[in-house]
Amino acid sequence: MTDTMPSQAADHAVDLTQQEREADLDLDQLKQLVGLVEYDENTDVFPVTGWDAIVFVAGNATQSAHYYQSAWGMDLVAYSGPENGNRDHKAFVLRSGSIRFVVKGAVDPDSALADHHRRHGDGVVDIALEVPDVDRCIAQALKAGATVLEQPTDHTDEHGTVRIAAIATYGETRHTLVQRTVNGQTYAGPYLPGYVPSTSSHVRREGQPKRLFQALDHIVGNVELGHMDEWVSFYNRVMGFVNMAEFIGDDIATDYSALMSKVVANGNHRVKFPLNEPAIAKKKSQIDEYLEFYRGAGAQHLAVATNDILASVDALRANGVEFLDTPDSYYEDPELRERIGNVRVPIEELQKRKILVDRDEDGYLLQIFTKPLGDRPTVFFELIERHGSLGFGKGNFKALFEAIEREQDKRGNL
Ligand SMILES: [Fe+2]
Repeated sequence: MTDTMPSQAADHAVDLTQQEREADLDLDQLKQLVGLVEYDENTDVFPVTGWDAIVFVAGNATQSAHYYQSAWGMDLVAYSGPENGNRDHKAFVLRSGSIRFVVKGAVDPDSALADHHRRHGDGVVDIALEVPDVDRCIAQALKAGATVLEQPTDHTDEHGTVRIAAIATYGETRHTLVQRTVNGQTYAGPYLPGYVPSTSSHVRREGQPKRLFQALDHIVGNVELGHMDEWVSFYNRVMGFVNMAEFIGDDIATDYSALMSKVVANGNHRVKFPLNEPAIAKKKSQIDEYLEFYRGAGAQHLAVATNDILASVDALRANGVEFLDTPDSYYEDPELRERIGNVRVPIEELQKRKILVDRDEDGYLLQIFTKPLGDRPTVFFELIERHGSLGFGKGNFKALFEAIEREQDKRGNL
């Protein structure tokens, strides 16, 4: 196990990505939103710039794309399907702030996407990362023993060239690696060769914020019992990711928390992967439930960053998005109030919306989790608003369960 790296390693400037510039975000905003840090890319064995796209497979991509636009305020920017020569599947490219989601659904019954969906249901097939040098990454991946699914290949259309490769990660999830600047020329198309520009026909509700989230903060992977350290090591060894401070171990796991989690991040911390495995607990672990219904390891939740979680939650609820409930005892518990301290709004405003708070030595964060997005109890979203804290809400695992236990105790049932 490598040691946790200091978050401010050196004075090395981090550039904005093309997607961040297009979303009118600046570096200060990104430091606040997702905890971006400066680091020296030259010493990185596997430099990663940031997220390229999160690719979902859906049973009905046409309708899912509508849901992500109407409920989540995403904008349709590109499309690929039978109308432009792709007879295998339909793919809708959606944007919110600096992050791109691609929703794919099989058109051809023999499509590999149909097989993936039959087994895993709606979920994340690909966590695509933007890298400055695909060949360097693949050389490192091979040296470190990773499974290379696709060797570096140029893909070209009238907008230019991207160079793409892919490696396997947990379960049947992949990391496609996308190099968007090849021989000094940056690809100018709406997404990748094969995609045409497209726009939303959905009309935003009056008064709805311009966007409900600005960036992607982290994606959690659920892996099988006993395999968490193996995947932490994969990201350390293959991709040069560093371990972040928040490790949930036996010290804070309660009888009910039912999971173990460690967090790895790329050098600039744009890409953060908490990795969960089930823990032996009194009840069946939520991670076990995921593994059973997803039929193996996969992406559990995507945390999207907002600078106004109250407005985002209000808009999402108005659009019909459902969130996990939080007991009133969570907010009324004196120990919890003391732990939370002062945050930017009265606790009652958070309680009204069931938003959770966590605090650590660096600051605090506000967060809330949706119910599962699809039919199976698998993938869901989190909304996160950071105020200095670089954590992931570990205090909430314990606080939530303890708040419940205290209520239980009052009823004489503990
Ligand atoms: Fe999270």
